[in-house]
Amino acid sequence: MPGEKKSKRIIIANWKMNPTTLFEASKLFQAIKKTTLKATRVQTIVCAPYLFLPTLAGFQSGQRISVGAQDSFYERVGAYTGEVSATQLAGEDIRYVILGHSERRAMGESNDLVGRKVAAALGEGLNVILCVGEKDRDQGGDYLSEVSAQIHASLASIPRRYFLNLIMVYEPVWAISTHANAVESPEDMLHMSIFIRKTLGGICGKDIAIKIPILYGGSVDEENVAGFIERGGADGALVGRASLSATSFSEIIKRANEVKID
Ligand code: PGA
Repeated sequence: MPGEKKSKRIIIANWKMNPTTLFEASKLFQAIKKTTLKATRVQTIVCAPYLFLPTLAGFQSGQRISVGAQDSFYERVGAYTGEVSATQLAGEDIRYVILGHSERRAMGESNDLVGRKVAAALGEGLNVILCVGEKDRDQGGDYLSEVSAQIHASLASIPRRYFLNLIMVYEPVWAISTHANAVESPEDMLHMSIFIRKTLGGICGKDIAIKIPILYGGSVDEENVAGFIERGGADGALVGRASLSATSFSEIIKRANEVKID
């Protein structure tokens, strides 16, 4: 469970709208699973398209590898064409969901909408992987207020007891591989993880905030993952493009497993 696993690194695959068939999805999942069985210090979560989730959920393995969704709706059931609720996910043994991903925000999700989704998913007992991150990095520091506003809007009305079911991901939009124009450094991530933890502390209290994992996302690969964990204060990583290659993603898991942290 997220609140217990500060000792474990969390590596999340965000497959986005990939791959094209259930056959390929199962093959990729099984290949990753082999690596996770040997990586005792890593908890892996594969966030796949809805269609593949019930099958992949059958391949989950305790604390080593779980599946997650990439979004969920705030109502439990009803006339909401195309939506999938947190209630429906929980019923299929899907225990994780990404919310607030920048690609969904770019499709029109407001901070308020993300907040309603977060409240519903936590209320259903799901573990929420909440993505925050600025669009641009300005010199004046406005990006900090952007990230703080995202955190407040998503979490201000959440009861404290749910915070241990939260995994935060800092994903600067400008560093995501599809439109990366620069690379985040572990040193910048360290600064952001301290800022995010402080902001969380103001909402749920220091004692709880210290236990919430904060991950880094944005062009993570086998070469840079260790740096973000070792020097960037990240409790793991959320990986997009590199999670679609069994070889690259397995290597990311292995490197995260090998990192020595005090
Ligand atoms: P990336 O994607 O690893 O391809 O940059 C991360 C994400 O968008 O979740």
